[in-house]
Amino acid sequence: MKAILRSTTAATLLPVALLLSGASPAALAADRAVDIGKLEYESACATCHGLSGKGDGPVAPHLTARTPDLTVLARDNKGVYPFDRVLKTIDGTVELKSHGTRQMPVWGRIFRQQSSLHLDVFPPPDADSAARGRMLALAEYLYRLQVK
Ligand code: HEC
Repeated sequence: MKAILRSTTAATLLPVALLLSGASPAALAADRAVDIGKLEYESACATCHGLSGKGDGPVAPHLTARTPDLTVLARDNKGVYPFDRVLKTIDGTVELKSHGTRQMPVWGRIFRQQSSLHLDVFPPPDADSAARGRMLALAEYLYRLQVK
């Protein structure tokens, strides 16, 4: 009888304890949610293009080509965000306007080599899909950085 009482008490108290701690499992997950595009941008692009995207990263002054302001891509294209061009620029399948050698790394190749490092899913996606997912997230993040 005592044992039953004790386990009943524990079962009743557990949700109460969770409530009191203010930590529902959903809230805990939301706390740890990651903005993939932002994460990728900050780790691969901000050194040159700056955290703000305006081309003022710490490496920019050391490049011979001007590092473009990525927040005005839509404004400079009649208000239309050039999604396809951005994606291909990141991938490296489109020629950049600058003269001489391309200063921006070819991320498509790098991401494919890193394969599915960032994706914790099983079975792991093929290198192409993993790279495409990361580049799409980046292009979508840049879309969010556009000035009105
Ligand atoms: C080593 C510095 C460097 C890094 C790192 C870098 N870029 Fe660039 N990026 C440049 C330069 C410089 C240009 C201008 C073209 C050129 O000379 O390569 C450019 C051009 C671009 C353009 C073309 C803009 C336009 O007007 O069409 C886009 C889009 C872009 N970068 C996005 C990114 C993204 C996204 C990342 C991260 C995945 C990134 N860049 C990382 C230096 C860099």
